[in-house]
Amino acid sequence: MASNAFLPEFTGLLIFLGFLCICDASKGISDRFYDVQRYGAAPDGNDDEGVALNKFYDVRKYGAVSDGKTDNSQAFLRAWTKACNCNGKCWVVVPIGTYKLGPVVFVGRCKGVTGFLIQGVVVAPTDPAEFTDKWITFRYVDQLLIRGGGTLDGQGASAWPFNDCKTNPHCRQLPATMTFDFVTNSRIHHLRSLNSKNAHMNFYSCTNITINQVRLIAPADSPNTDGIRLGASSNINISRSIIATGDDCISMIENTNNVLITYVSCGPGHGISIGSLGKGLYEQVHDIQVLSCNISGTQNGLRVKTWAPSLFGMVSNLTFRNIFINQVQNPIVFDQNYCPDPPCDEKAQSQIKISNVTFKTIYGTSSSKTAVNLKCSGAQPCDKVTLDNINLKYKGPGGAAVSYCRNVEGKSVGRQMPPDCL
Ligand SMILES: *[C@@H]1O[C@H](CO)[C@@H](O)[C@H](O)[C@H]1NC(C)=O
Ligand SMILES: *[C@@H]1O[C@H](CO)[C@@H](O)[C@H](O)[C@H]1NC(C)=O
Ligand SMILES: *[C@@H]1O[C@H](CO)[C@@H](O)[C@H](O)[C@H]1NC(C)=O
Ligand SMILES: *[C@@H]1O[C@H](CO)[C@@H](O)[C@H](O)[C@H]1NC(C)=O
Ligand SMILES: *[C@@H]1O[C@H](CO)[C@@H](O)[C@H](O)[C@H]1NC(C)=O
Repeated sequence: MASNAFLPEFTGLLIFLGFLCICDASKGISDRFYDVQRYGAAPDGNDDEGVALNKFYDVRKYGAVSDGKTDNSQAFLRAWTKACNCNGKCWVVVPIGTYKLGPVVFVGRCKGVTGFLIQGVVVAPTDPAEFTDKWITFRYVDQLLIRGGGTLDGQGASAWPFNDCKTNPHCRQLPATMTFDFVTNSRIHHLRSLNSKNAHMNFYSCTNITINQVRLIAPADSPNTDGIRLGASSNINISRSIIATGDDCISMIENTNNVLITYVSCGPGHGISIGSLGKGLYEQVHDIQVLSCNISGTQNGLRVKTWAPSLFGMVSNLTFRNIFINQVQNPIVFDQNYCPDPPCDEKAQSQIKISNVTFKTIYGTSSSKTAVNLKCSGAQPCDKVTLDNINLKYKGPGGAAVSYCRNVEGKSVGRQMPPDCL
């Protein structure tokens, strides 16, 4: 009975994984692009929606060279300035080819809709002398579009050895591939990010963002290569994407709210995380929905982590539904004594309250015995936690899967494997 409940959404997931295609050709973008190549500055065209006029600014026209060696930052910035100051829907075009790009900041307050049509490969510098803390940054842009089926190659292997953050508290921040600061009403889709030096996509203070059909890829053992980091952001819609990386698949911190995550395939990596929270002033993460996702071979599945001791804060209104879990170490986990670098004071209490969290139809396999681990704070016990139709199997030494609860109030509904501890 319970297993049939998720079938429709589950089928959707399979279909999406089968058809996920990061080429934009099905939409006819390529045709329009070839016009651009032929005519330089393209004539105005009709948009998919038939509204705005499209104008194209090919980076080659502004001096870009696709030899994979020349730094094209100035050419990209010149093309951006043109697109940003043009009325209608104006695109910077990165055609097929390999374009090396140093650190750049694309600043907004543009006249219309400003886009990046990335068809080629944009490669980051490999010389440490050229690293800053960000690679490609968009700042104060409203109505930004990024698409085109191309690739951002962060050249992470050149930088990961410099990541000594495990041992050095003053470690140097390596650059995220894409940083979005104060970006609103924007969409990123059909894009691939490979081997980021740090996070693939970092959002700070962004609103109304749709991200779909992106692939964010880095090796399982690459340090701090989060897929998507959301900080102080709201109304975010992430769907139909593949995130396989070395750190969190998606992480949500600092007053992030109203996030919808659907049909995301996640793993390897550290799973979908809320936190770490508690170091900032009254951090409040709320109204997060994670639906119909596939989490495979990760360290964590669905996680909330908070520091202890901590400042006051709140995590509430979370829904995790119809999640397939495949050999995940900690499929469902609240860790309110988060301690990535032991030793920590195990008696310290977090002041972050976790309330109203539903896990519904979470099924698959755990690679550790404790498949459900709800370790809440003694100072701010978790409440209104619902476990509904949980089926997580563990095959290994020491018997069947178990759950652990500490300072948590809630209820269980339907099937419970492991037996619940609420
Ligand atoms: C987000 O979208 C809503 C609905 O379209 C709109 O009312 C709101 O102004 C947008 N927010 C920002 C910051 O642009
Ligand atoms: C989220 O984005 C996807 C892809 O664009 C879209 O199909 C879906 O309707 C969006 N959902 C919401 C609630 O905006
Ligand atoms: C989930 O992802 C794993 C790894 O990518 C894949 O092997 C598996 O087939 C996926 N499962 C479903 C149900 O899509
Ligand atoms: C709990 O959160 C869900 C959304 O996840 C919301 O629909 C519901 O109203 C919330 N309940 C309370 C008591 O706030
Ligand atoms: C949780 O959801 C309920 C019902 O939708 C809403 O009233 C409440 O404000 C939400 N909580 C937060 C912290 O936004």
